[in-house]
Formats: sequence, C-alpha cells, structure tokens
Amino acid sequence: MINRVAIFVSGGGSNMKALVADMQADHPARVCVVVSNNEDSGGIAWAREHGIATEVVDHRPYGDDRASFEAELTTALNRHGPDMICLAGFMRVLTAGFVTPWHGKMINIHPSLLPKYTGLHTHARALNAGDKIHGCTVHEVTALLDDGPILGQSKIDVVMGDTPDTLAARVLVQEHRLYPAVLRRYCVGITSVLHL
Ligand code: GAR
Repeated sequence: MINRVAIFVSGGGSNMKALVADMQADHPARVCVVVSNNEDSGGIAWAREHGIATEVVDHRPYGDDRASFEAELTTALNRHGPDMICLAGFMRVLTAGFVTPWHGKMINIHPSLLPKYTGLHTHARALNAGDKIHGCTVHEVTALLDDGPILGQSKIDVVMGDTPDTLAARVLVQEHRLYPAVLRRYCVGITSVLHL
C-alpha cells in the first residue's frame, strides 16, 4: 500500500493542487513533500501556504551535470521517506540514474494522447497535425521521455477556432480529473488503463 506521495512541480502546480485536494479522508495516500527545481514556482508557494513540506533544488548551478542535480534531488527527497513520486508539470528530464530506482513507483501526467507528441508544444503539434481528438495521459515513468506503460487517458474534441491556448485550457480540466483518479487506483495496485 502506497501512503506517502512526493509531488514534483516546476510551475503553477494546478495538477499538484488537484492531487492534494483528492488525498483526503478515505484516500489511501497523503502528500509528504512537494519538490521543485524552481524556487519561484507557484506550486511551491501554494504548498508552503498549506503547510506541506517543500524542497527546492535549483537545476541551474549544475549546468549539464544532471547526475549531480539528481543526486541532490535524491538527498532532498529521502528526507521525507516517500513511497512514490507524482511528476506534475516537472519540466526537467530525469535520467535513468534517477528513474531506475523508482521503477513502478513514479508516474507522470503529459498533455497529449501518448504515444503522440512526447516532449513539448503538444497542443500546437496536435493542431498542426489536424487532429480531431486530443487529450492527456498519465503513465508510469521510464528512462525514455514520456514513455512507459499508460495508466489513464482522457480525450477532448478539437473544435473549429481552437488555438494552442484554448486546447491547453480544456486539456488541463481533464488533467485535473484524470490524475487524481489514476493515483487512487495506482495506490492500491491497479494499473489497467483508465479512460475518463
Ligand atoms: C500540465 O499541462 C502538464 O500536463 C504539463 O505541464 C502542465 C503543468 O501545469 N506537463 C508536461 O508538459 C510534462 N512534460 P500545472 O503546473 O498547472 O499542473
């Protein structure tokens, strides 16, 4: 049974808020720390305001030395004894050195219907491709970017006049439904794909 969840954020942290809001009452898990590479992220400020432990490891002093950055992340993380990690808009690529020990215990939300559009600018790429359906995916994290077994997906229709911003806003609404739903299942060992 998973009961201590570390959430990694880089930006505003709206997915983090959705996860924290859901981890109440009969939920099997609770957030134990919010971790960021960005001291100025809205997610870190919100976590502090809500009495949640935080850790910030700025990636910039490490330059290309990802191993040292990840070693520091691990040290910070280990202060809180998490059982699993939820990446929620964490915008640093994690290497195999960090990911491998968390195999089967780290999940991510990505704003596309994977395997389409790994990486960045997913909404613009869906529009440019003329996709009629777009959405978001929660998946287990492996050492390959935005790869790993899919745990859940939620779809939206692409409509006339959509822009990357309008798509992002509608996908985000779905993200906030999908991620907590998948986390609830994952905490009790359910890994079949959830379609929301
Ligand atoms: C979300 O749309 C999330 O899917 C995306 O960043 C946004 C974070 O928003 N993640 C990625 O692109 C990861 N590759 P939030 O900080 O408001 O949760």
